Amino acid sequence: TGRRGMTSARSYQGDVSEKETIVKLLYNIGSKKEVEQYLTYFSSVESHQFAVIKVGGAVLTDSLDSLASSLTFLNRVGLYPIVVHGAGPQLNGLLDDAGIVPDYIDGIRITDEKTLNIARKVFAEENLKLLASVLEPLKIVYLNEKGGLFHGVTKKRIDVINLDEEYEDLMKEPWVKFGTKLKIREIHDLLMRLPRSSSVSIISADHLHKELFTHSGAGTLIRRGHRIFK
Ligand code: ARG
Repeated sequence: TGRRGMTSARSYQGDVSEKETIVKLLYNIGSKKEVEQYLTYFSSVESHQFAVIKVGGAVLTDSLDSLASSLTFLNRVGLYPIVVHGAGPQLNGLLDDAGIVPDYIDGIRITDEKTLNIARKVFAEENLKLLASVLEPLKIVYLNEKGGLFHGVTKKRIDVINLDEEYEDLMKEPWVKFGTKLKIREIHDLLMRLPRSSSVSIISADHLHKELFTHSGAGTLIRRGHRIFK
């Protein structure tokens, strides 16, 4: 299994014992058996095919430490996800701080912030699709602050969404609107272009390892149908 890093390690022995320590830490969140099963599964593909993690701009400002430690944690067990992030809130803040006002030349507006904003979001999403569909990662992870997708009526976290059985009805739910609707459609379209074994998890940076290395997870898992691997 073409796992980079292991062969090029300067001190192989040192890396092995460090990895063992980290793996032992993982046993606290799930059973030894399931943690090992997921470690083996996630390491069975090329390094770049493990996961693409989409970090929301708000996570970058508010949970940078959690994000950094979860990523470091994964690196220590030999997993190197590809991280993509937005920066919408950051950019908005900067524009605001700078007191940017619309500029006109001969009555033509040259700074259309709204258009710019929308364009940037569209590019970011398109980028993610292009990233993810070419790489065919096992996992696509959306990090958000809430740690999952929440049902609009019961307010409870949705554990699993099986798109094959649930997508159409879910899209008809009155509480599935605006951003949520867009997100679910985006995830649906993304998964349709990927192998059935790929799945999406929506989770907070803090609980990423629990989501990845246990059967029950901690956030919302979205997949096409029932997976062979369980
Ligand atoms: N660890 C598995 C995975 O990442 C299962 C996660 C289950 N998550 C859930 N929210 N039910 O694919």
